[in-house]
Amino acid sequence: MLENDVSAPAMNTTIYLKEYQVPDFLISQVDLEFVLSPDNTRVKSRLKVTRNGAHDRALTLCGEKLTLISVAINDESVAADAYEQTDMSLKLPAVPNEFELVIETEIAPQQNTELSGLYRSSGNYCTQCEAEGFRRITYFLDRPDVLAEYRVRIVAPKAACPVLLSNGNPVAQGDGPDGLHWAQWHDPHPKPSYLFALVAGDLQFIEDQFTTMSGRDVALKIYTQSAYINKCAHAMASLKRSMAWDERVYGREYDLDIYNIVAVDDFNMGAMENKGLNVFNTKYVLADTDTATDADYEAVESVIAHEYFHNWSGNRVTCRDWFQLSLKEGFTVFRDQEYSADLGSRAVKRIQDVQVLRAFQFKEDSGPMAHPIRPDSYQEINNFYTATVYQKGAEVIRMLHRLLGADAFRRGTDLYFADFDGQAVTTEDFVHALERASGVDLTQFRRWYSQAGTPIIKVEQHFGDGVLTLSLQQSCPDTPGQTDKLPFHMPIEVALFSPDGKKLVAQTLSFNQAEQQFRFDNLACKPVVSVLRYFSAPVKLEYKQSNADRLHLIKYEDDGFVRWESMQQLCLAMIQPALTTGELDPRAYQRVRDAFEALMTDPNPSDKAVLAEMLTLPPAAYIAELASRVDPAAISAVRDRCIERLAKDLEKYFHALYADNNTALDTDAQSLAARRMLKNRALFYLVETGQTAYYALASHQYHAASNMTDRLAAFTALVQSHYPDRDALISDFYETWQHEPLVLDKWFAIQAMRPSSEALREVEDLLHHSDFTLTNPNRVRSVLGAFSGNLAGFHRLDGKGYALLVDYVIKLDQINPQIAARLVSSLNSWRRFTEPYASRMRTELARLNMVSQLSSDVREVVSKALSV
Ligand code: TRP
Ligand code: ZN
Repeated sequence: MLENDVSAPAMNTTIYLKEYQVPDFLISQVDLEFVLSPDNTRVKSRLKVTRNGAHDRALTLCGEKLTLISVAINDESVAADAYEQTDMSLKLPAVPNEFELVIETEIAPQQNTELSGLYRSSGNYCTQCEAEGFRRITYFLDRPDVLAEYRVRIVAPKAACPVLLSNGNPVAQGDGPDGLHWAQWHDPHPKPSYLFALVAGDLQFIEDQFTTMSGRDVALKIYTQSAYINKCAHAMASLKRSMAWDERVYGREYDLDIYNIVAVDDFNMGAMENKGLNVFNTKYVLADTDTATDADYEAVESVIAHEYFHNWSGNRVTCRDWFQLSLKEGFTVFRDQEYSADLGSRAVKRIQDVQVLRAFQFKEDSGPMAHPIRPDSYQEINNFYTATVYQKGAEVIRMLHRLLGADAFRRGTDLYFADFDGQAVTTEDFVHALERASGVDLTQFRRWYSQAGTPIIKVEQHFGDGVLTLSLQQSCPDTPGQTDKLPFHMPIEVALFSPDGKKLVAQTLSFNQAEQQFRFDNLACKPVVSVLRYFSAPVKLEYKQSNADRLHLIKYEDDGFVRWESMQQLCLAMIQPALTTGELDPRAYQRVRDAFEALMTDPNPSDKAVLAEMLTLPPAAYIAELASRVDPAAISAVRDRCIERLAKDLEKYFHALYADNNTALDTDAQSLAARRMLKNRALFYLVETGQTAYYALASHQYHAASNMTDRLAAFTALVQSHYPDRDALISDFYETWQHEPLVLDKWFAIQAMRPSSEALREVEDLLHHSDFTLTNPNRVRSVLGAFSGNLAGFHRLDGKGYALLVDYVIKLDQINPQIAARLVSSLNSWRRFTEPYASRMRTELARLNMVSQLSSDVREVVSKALSV
């Protein structure tokens, strides 16, 4: 009925990869002058423009929310009737083949709540130009295949803005009249407009330096407001480690005299790799033991690395168009994942990356926005900064790395950087470079770039006469606009273990047919098979492995991922049948219980962080992802029952584990963090027993903690339990940390994630809290984002969670469409839910779709979610 409603609002326009055309004009030089002022900043842009090829088409520049002051060609002013202006463009019909174009515009950074273009955060000026923010600063060919050399002059009041920064190297600075001062910057490396950045304001900095492998000194600076300046040391140390790693592993050296990072409170994403001037969300820079958890330290380390690695994979070699986004993002995520793996526990890093992939990317692949890592079309590019482009994109690069081997892969990336330095290229250019360097034929592998959906691999084994035959079958479900997918080429890592736990064989199977068999000869007896070691391909495995085999792998595998995955499978074998029967099968439960006990009493536990992961049940979101129909109440109920029983039955082991790891025996930061992780896992179960003594233990840990990891773990366990003094604890945390925005975000999020139907009422209160604001993305994510991921709290029979979300999406869309569109995506999977959830979600989507003034961001998501 609603689908046919004729009054439904009009669709956005769709951009197609197949319609890509080279730009009609090129811009080689850009001179920008900014006279900064909150409500009317003057931008004067002087461009060197040349016609690209022989044609007589007009020059059409992009521009949004700009007030045009003047246009001049070769110093002659262009009259208003000689150009055409719309609210998205400026068209100059008859221009010379080569000319200088000067455009003056005015913008209002203070009014910019979208956080795209030039905006203010805590009173300081900053920019965000990826993907299409530069057109909100001045009229331009705002597309990544137009590369220019930039010179920037910034003028601002010296008192309010002592710091004036842009890309590249500083050229000159000086004082002007009326308390103004100015600075000039020059970036010698041609770049697309999305990498432009400007920062101005009252900022402090810390500094350090790095000497590159060829002996060049680079000055490193991290800027932020003074209240945060003593929390930047970890980010600086991470930056230096990243620079050294990229030299050692990829042979990539930094290419400017300075590297500046600025951390701001208000930022749509994690961080941005602007050439020589990264802008970061404070969440990924600030860290000290008092306010940041071990997980926060790791997140800072990986995002600092990610943005640094973009200097080569993204900036020196950039994207031809936004369909190629995974060229830089998939590759750079793979690079930062490997960096973190080299630095810490490789197994835990892999486990955590797989969890993210399964929780977010698999869900995307099974919903209405499913797209290949190189999409074919989009309506709003901001909606395509997705888990698919980033995380699955990284998995695709990881498979290439495995299929080629580390050495050939490195020869390939060397060739890629050498051949395409200073150019805007395609994923095809990347794959072809690897192919040329390695001699490996990647024709079939390319399907990973064009076919969406998560492949399903069926595994069967047969053993007889000393021969093991593994039969693999692959299929890939239909996704919007794509049916009948062709087989993928993927590496499947396999090992065989003897009954006494010896690894007999380990090898990479090159799997590229719909069905394929692999033989292993000369086996003395039937081995235990380990498939998809290291999670060697981003697929769902359908493998009826015996529980005995799973237990064997938990005991003997040397790949931590498989040990963890086998434990997850044991847990799923306990949880999944109970979702329909409502009963826990006693034997399935006993197996998990015994496996937990064996893990906790192992005299030589391997990696403590892997152990902590193994003692964690599959997340509710993953259980939902695997279900054919999602019944959120059943999932929460079953999972909670398992946790409670395990907690009670294994209490003495959890207590011993807590006690053993509640001491600082290790000296290195990594072992200490692993110990904390394990101890806090044990504490979680102890609190779940509901015993007063453990509430007291957690409360003591909360009050006595010397670091945020321990404090927050105790706080979370208590707040999400039936702890009688819950309200007082919540107030205490607030009183102590209300002046630390990033800590306050945690306070909001932990309440919004309360696994109970009480969450709605609490979230309504939080939304009216004096510290809640719709203008700060971190705060919005910590209340509405966290709530929408709360299976037990958000999905209610009365649908009130959905209604609340949509009310706020409508409000937020007026302020920040990018964030609004991300929030509404949590309703995308509505078709996968049981009734009445599915209908209630759809009703709210339909209500949203009837709003006439939606942004293109929200419009694309909601219309695709509702379309058949
Ligand atoms: N390129 C950024 C990254 O490192 C992504 C990014 C930052 C972004 N800010 C953004 C993308 C705003 C879109 C809009 O991954
Ligand atoms: Zn990136």
